[in-house]
Amino acid sequence: PFSVLNELRESTPVRYDENRQCWDVFLYEDVDAILRNHDLFSSERKRTVEHDDILTMDPPRHNHMRNLVSKVFSPKAMQNQETKIRELANDLLSQVLDQGHMNMIHDLAAPLPVIIIAEMLGVPKEDRLIFKEWSDTVVKGVSGDSQEEYEAVAAEHKRVNQELTQYFLSMMAKRRQEPQADLITSLLHAEIDGEKLTDKEIVDFCILLLVAGNETTTNLITHGIRVLTEQPELQSTLKQDPALIPSFVEETLRYYSPVLGQARIAKQDAEIRGQQIRQGDTVTVWLAAANRDPRKFAKPDRFKVDRSPNPHLSFGKGIHFCLGAPLARLEARIAFETILGRMANLCLKEGTNLVINPAPFLYGVHEYPITFA
Ligand code: HEM
Repeated sequence: PFSVLNELRESTPVRYDENRQCWDVFLYEDVDAILRNHDLFSSERKRTVEHDDILTMDPPRHNHMRNLVSKVFSPKAMQNQETKIRELANDLLSQVLDQGHMNMIHDLAAPLPVIIIAEMLGVPKEDRLIFKEWSDTVVKGVSGDSQEEYEAVAAEHKRVNQELTQYFLSMMAKRRQEPQADLITSLLHAEIDGEKLTDKEIVDFCILLLVAGNETTTNLITHGIRVLTEQPELQSTLKQDPALIPSFVEETLRYYSPVLGQARIAKQDAEIRGQQIRQGDTVTVWLAAANRDPRKFAKPDRFKVDRSPNPHLSFGKGIHFCLGAPLARLEARIAFETILGRMANLCLKEGTNLVINPAPFLYGVHEYPITFA
């Protein structure tokens, strides 16, 4: 999608798309300004299943809800996760190490984030597989190609949403009886202005963590390995200087942004670069186009492992800045450290055709089989 986004950014930096009936904004400066201006550009937008969660909530409720959980995801709290994540990454790699090839997504990049978030929530080990299936379905994008297709995916979303709701409700019932040191228990006890959260708010928050955190992180890890196979000299660079890995993670986020764009609703009439936006209009800000805006990044289409500063917008900006960014960064760093520590000569398996996933706003490949020594 990047060459198309690059072209659109240079030819029509702000345009109205009649097909999708929404505005598109491509320049870094504009994307950044819209994301910061949450008073004018609201996040309260429609989705296929109605959710009460912070992603589509405006202040003041947004601040209150977000504060309840921000500690759990803070960089400091992440320090406690590091050992667990490293163990899991090692376990997953041990299962494929002898065979000399692996399916990057299936064997490592997909299970890693799902298992970690499931554990943080308090999902027992034996439920992980079903949990993974649900989480795969909830993130499946709704393609606008045809009405039937839209309705089929929307129906599937609804079904899985009901199953997940039931699952979390029964977990909540168990935790009310017997509290544990997990996220579900802490949400049960949380209060805003002396009032507990509703069951629906707790369930929707848990579902949001799956939707927002799993496929995005899977894609980040896969994209990093993709870069390492596209530019194999980087494998030895990072092996010799592992301190570069965090900056490699940031450049991977910028270069292959897992989230391509985000929607906002204009709360009042507004003007952007001479275009008249009406109250109620949907505006899509294209993070992936902003990340390659040459006005902000020198040689944006080049992967520069030590790019600094690197103010990419892949985690968003402003009050909705990704809550899980510290976790995603940690998981990716550990995944790359573990892979580079135990494997050499990573190559995309010969004859592989890259298939890009059809989800409209998420960017990832369908499969990434590699060989290694
Ligand atoms: C919000 C990207 C991983 C949880 C966001 C937003 C972006 C984003 C762009 C802003 C949405 C908006 O402005 O409307 C990513 C990427 C990830 C990632 C690229 C991985 C590479 C995670 C993880 C979690 C998570 C691991 C949690 C386990 C959230 C939540 C929000 C959010 C809860 C909503 C925050 C709010 O509205 O205040 N993410 N995310 N994300 N993300 Fe992430």
